[in-house]
Amino acid sequence: MLTFGVILNQGFEVIELIVDVQNCLQAFVGVADDLGAIVIAFRGTQETSIQNWIEDLFWKQLDFDYPGCTNGKVHHGFFNAYNNTVVRSGVLDGVGRAKEIYGDLKILVTGHSMGGAMAAFCGLDLALIYGSKNVQVMTFGQPRIGNAAFASYYSTVVPNTFRVTHEHDLVPHLPPYYQYFPQKTYHHFPREVWLYNIGLGFLIYEVEKICDDSGEDPNCSRSVSGNSISDHLTYFGVEMGCDTSSKCGIVMTPNLASYGKVDEYGNLVLSRVPSKLILKRKKEPGISDQ
Ligand SMILES: *[C@@H]1O[C@H](CO)[C@@H](O)[C@H](O)[C@H]1NC(C)=O
Ligand SMILES: *[C@@H]1O[C@H](CO)[C@@H](O)[C@H](O)[C@H]1NC(C)=O
Repeated sequence: MLTFGVILNQGFEVIELIVDVQNCLQAFVGVADDLGAIVIAFRGTQETSIQNWIEDLFWKQLDFDYPGCTNGKVHHGFFNAYNNTVVRSGVLDGVGRAKEIYGDLKILVTGHSMGGAMAAFCGLDLALIYGSKNVQVMTFGQPRIGNAAFASYYSTVVPNTFRVTHEHDLVPHLPPYYQYFPQKTYHHFPREVWLYNIGLGFLIYEVEKICDDSGEDPNCSRSVSGNSISDHLTYFGVEMGCDTSSKCGIVMTPNLASYGKVDEYGNLVLSRVPSKLILKRKKEPGISDQ
C-alpha cells in the first residue's frame, strides 16, 4: 500500500503540510528516500458523514469545462478543492522546493476517496508542468471526476495512472455511468485495478485484476453492484480511517506551528527545508515520526 508504506518507512520526510480549515482539506508533500520520489498525498473526505457525501455524489452533474480540453467536463467541486484553495499553491511550492534540493525526482500523487479525486487533478496539473513521464498517480476508491472527453485527455497527459478499486466499494460507481450515453455522463479514466476475493470456504484469496484501457471495463468493479461502504474504507487490508465525526479533525501536533504561516481564514501551510540527511537514511525527529 503505497501511501502507508511510505509513511511508515524511515527516510520519509514531510516538507509541506497543507491544511485548509475552511474546506476541511489536508494534503502533504514529502520526499521518500527509498522510492527516490516526491510523494503527494491527499486526505479523503471528512465531511459531516460519508453517507451524506455519497448521496450528494449520486446526483452530481458534470458542471464545469476543464480548461484546455475540448468538450471536457468535470466535477466542479473536486476540481475547485484542488485548484482554487490553498492546496494547489502549497503543493506546487513543496514540489518546487523538493526539486531545488534533490533535483529531478519523479512525483507520485495519491489519495483515497475524495482525496483520490483531488490527487487526479493534481497529477494532471503536475504532468502539464513537469512532463507526463515524471508523474505517477495512484488513487484508491476514487469517484468519477469527469466525462469521456476529459477521461481520454487525462489518460494521454497522465498515462502512469492506477485507479485502485475494491470489491463492492460504492464510491467508484459514483457519480453514475450510463452505458447507453457513454459520451454524456461521468466516465472513469484508466487504468483500473480491481481488488476482489475469490475462493471457497476457508481458502480466500484477494486478486488484483488489471482492467482494460477503457476506464469503464465491464469486467472489473462494474461487473458487481457498488453497495458497500466498508469495502470503501478498507484497501489492501488497511483501514482508511475515514471517520464519520461531524467536525473537521486536523491531524497535526502543536510543535508543527513553528513551520507555518496561517492566513486570515485560519488555513495553514507548513513548510520546511528538507534535511538532506534523509538521503543517508539518517533518522531525525520530525513530522514523519508523529
Ligand atoms: C486554477 O488556479 C490558478 C491559480 O492557482 C488560476 O490561475 C486558474 O485560473 C485556476 N483555474 C481555474 C479553471 O479555475
Ligand atoms: C467481459 O464481459 C463480457 C460481458 O460484459 C463478456 O462477454 C466477456 O467474455 C468478458 N471478457 C473477459 C475477458 O472476461
